Amino acid sequence: MDKKVLVLASANKGKIREISDMLPEFKVVAYKELGENFDIEETGETFFDNALIKAKAVSEKYDLPCLADDSGLCVEALSGAPGVYSARYSETGDDEDNNDLLLKNMQGVKDRRAKFVCCAVFYMPNGEVFTETGETFGEILNERQGKSGFGYDPVFYSFDLKKSFGLATEEEKNSVSHRSRAIHAIAAVIKEKLK
Ligand code: IMP
Repeated sequence: MDKKVLVLASANKGKIREISDMLPEFKVVAYKELGENFDIEETGETFFDNALIKAKAVSEKYDLPCLADDSGLCVEALSGAPGVYSARYSETGDDEDNNDLLLKNMQGVKDRRAKFVCCAVFYMPNGEVFTETGETFGEILNERQGKSGFGYDPVFYSFDLKKSFGLATEEEKNSVSHRSRAIHAIAAVIKEKLK
């Protein structure tokens, strides 16, 4: 039987790959594959606001149910920064520059506790909204360890895995990540609504 299509309001290749692996019963399609290549401005102040903005924009555009997630890294000693600004922390927003700036801002800081947060929103064309949040805890390393994953993975030491996400396989990361926790929690309602 053909898999049901699940539209994802994301252009981030790392996220698309991870979410496809987490929901093998669906054919996950990134919204940019549906035709018009429009960008969605993330103007919200919370992960939920931004996930809702993305899911609603794509659902309304194509009149289809849509899943979005908004995620980021929250560092205790930086009062929760970079938080919702994780993708745009450095001037370029490039992963390497974001990690360089984070390591610089954490130089000499003793309390290195941090968490990744992911808010998933599933939006239906009739306006129904479903949401779940997942978190995963760890510490900011003093330097990069490993090259796996994306974003801040090389500088995040996972308490669950006892190694950096940069050194973890995709399967290991998915077993404990903020995104997998949020997506697994919201999967039941997606399956029910797309039946
Ligand atoms: P979003 O696309 O607005 O959700 O931005 C998320 C940003 O947070 C990414 O660009 C990364 O910088 C960071 N981020 C979120 N999830 C992860 C992850 O699983 N690993 C590493 N960085 C992440």
